[in-house]
Amino acid sequence: MANRQKILTVFGTRPEAIKLFPLIHVLEADERFESVVCVSAQHRAMLDQVLAIAGIVPEYDLDLMTPGQTLDALTARAVVEIGKVLDEERPDWVVVQGDTTTVMAGALAAYYRKIPVCHVEAGLRSGNIHHPWPEEVNRRMVGTFAALHCAPTETAARALKRENIDASSVHVTGNTVIDALEWVTKRIENEPSLASGLAGIERRFADKRIIGMTSHRRENFGEGMMQIADAVTRIAARDDVAVVFPVHLNPNVRAVMNDRLGALDNVALIEPLDYPHFARLLDISHLMLTDSGGVQEEAPALGKPVLVMRETTERPEGIEAGTAMLVGTNADTIVSAVERLLEDETAYSAMARAHNPFGDGKAAARIADLLTAQ
Ligand code: UD1
Ligand code: UDP
Repeated sequence: MANRQKILTVFGTRPEAIKLFPLIHVLEADERFESVVCVSAQHRAMLDQVLAIAGIVPEYDLDLMTPGQTLDALTARAVVEIGKVLDEERPDWVVVQGDTTTVMAGALAAYYRKIPVCHVEAGLRSGNIHHPWPEEVNRRMVGTFAALHCAPTETAARALKRENIDASSVHVTGNTVIDALEWVTKRIENEPSLASGLAGIERRFADKRIIGMTSHRRENFGEGMMQIADAVTRIAARDDVAVVFPVHLNPNVRAVMNDRLGALDNVALIEPLDYPHFARLLDISHLMLTDSGGVQEEAPALGKPVLVMRETTERPEGIEAGTAMLVGTNADTIVSAVERLLEDETAYSAMARAHNPFGDGKAAARIADLLTAQ
């Protein structure tokens, strides 16, 4: 078909892959589009886990990850290498999602070639350039030149309009993470073995309430991570809870967590889970303890109380709806928030309500329509 839109989707990390596979599935199935996928592979193993379950084989794999990579070295390589792909493909659109180095570098390389950028999950703002760091600046930069801003919520759309971004380029689409979660939930329903790998842990902790945990934020490295580890040590001293913590592959996270939590009876430090198994962990958890962005969106959808170990959040919707609570990185504050949820049934049920401020599972289809309407 002569006038098909060529869409180059560029991503590099686990959360981008999770939030973009629903859109890639839609683009691949729709004759209006020619879909080309480029991964920077800013993450390697954690990206590959998502590509495998989603059945995505990128046309370009730049394989950029190096152990312990720095922000500047990765940025420089990503701008240059993604630029080469853009020169070869000359797409009608470059699609990026979120706020990682790959997003900022991929969008910049497109801007340098005057190729329009579609920013998925646009308009998230914490208002603090150091929390989350460097993500707040990455997404603000992309916001200054994207041609199409797909805001997940009205709050995000308002934030963009406050920055004087042309309102006609801002659309509320919902967050594709809900599309992804619905997709993986159906896959597990049809094929339970996809998520059966936690059975050993489920048996081991059958008489305990499980706290699902993730932690990886750069701004928490050092003192923040120590405080988080201290909090988990104190929580796990209780005999009625167990903490299940798939540890991010970032060596800065692993060094602290393995050292401080590795020997505790009620803590299972495990390797990063593929998406079906993480969905299972969400399902079996009594509550989530996290500094992750995506988990703040998935937990409310499943009615799981989520305690957010950050000073601020760019996702206020979960907090406004009562499923999420900011607890920062002070050990005392984390411990007392967890204990309150474990001991106060009223406080727990007030938070454990399923609702979906982040989307209705149809965000990817809306974004695809917007790409043809411009
Ligand atoms: C990155 C993003 C962050 C996002 C997070 C999601 C930036 C600056 N940070 O943080 O916004 O929330 O991904 O997880 O873009 N590593 C591996 N294998 C992997 C993945 C990572 O070994 O599959 C190790 C490598 O040593 C790598 C390091 O982790 O150098 C850091 O990876 P990087 O992507 O730079 O930062 P993250 O902390 O993962
Ligand atoms: N996730 C996963 N396996 C894990 C931990 C998280 O599949 O072991 C998923 C989780 O469901 C969410 C996403 O990864 O969709 C969040 O990624 P991460 O916390 O790495 O990044 P962030 O969202 O903070 O940018």
